[in-house]
Amino acid sequence: MKELVFVTNNKHKLSEIRQIIGQYCIIKSLGDIGFNEEIEETAPDLEGNALLKARHIHDRYGVDCFADDTGLEVDALGGAPGVYSARYAGENTTYADNVNKLLEAMDGETRRGARFRTVIALILDNKSYLFEGQVDGEITTEQRGETGFGYDPIFRPLQSEKSFAEMTAEEKNSISHRGRATQELRSFLARETKEG
Ligand code: IMP
Repeated sequence: MKELVFVTNNKHKLSEIRQIIGQYCIIKSLGDIGFNEEIEETAPDLEGNALLKARHIHDRYGVDCFADDTGLEVDALGGAPGVYSARYAGENTTYADNVNKLLEAMDGETRRGARFRTVIALILDNKSYLFEGQVDGEITTEQRGETGFGYDPIFRPLQSEKSFAEMTAEEKNSISHRGRATQELRSFLARETKEG
């Protein structure tokens, strides 16, 4: 079976992706190939950062690999925090700090539309491909739920009454940005492994 390196050491993301595409390829982590440095995300958009991370590993090790990058884009904030979602409240801050800063920025705002967007960059046989998944929703006025991570307690997808943090992992994955981008990657790999 083909081997693909996922440019991450996030165990949650690794097990999620292995469940979805593990039947088409063996997924290795950065730890598995002995890479334990930080890759600085310096691009101005999600596509650029996902590509930058995948290219970094491809250039160094010559392996087929993929990387992902996610952002929460809030309409009333002109698309912020977007590519800066992980460090919205600053460097070395917590998920709770980011959530509180966003709730403050949206205080009194009636336009609450937002979307999560994930881009996956794949480098396979020296060619690069991009896959995208998005989910539209709104920023709630207060935190709801205990599951998930990041902005989950204040994001409610349009097709549900629940915030992401009130859903099971399965419910969330079936409609989430990352779930959808991963399904796109899965369809592509399914076609490639059939043809190849
Ligand atoms: P990353 O590119 O997957 O590391 O995501 C960047 C940031 O977006 C994370 O640090 C989180 O704050 C936020 N984020 C990404 N995915 C999710 C999600 O599924 N729910 C809530 N927040 C998320």
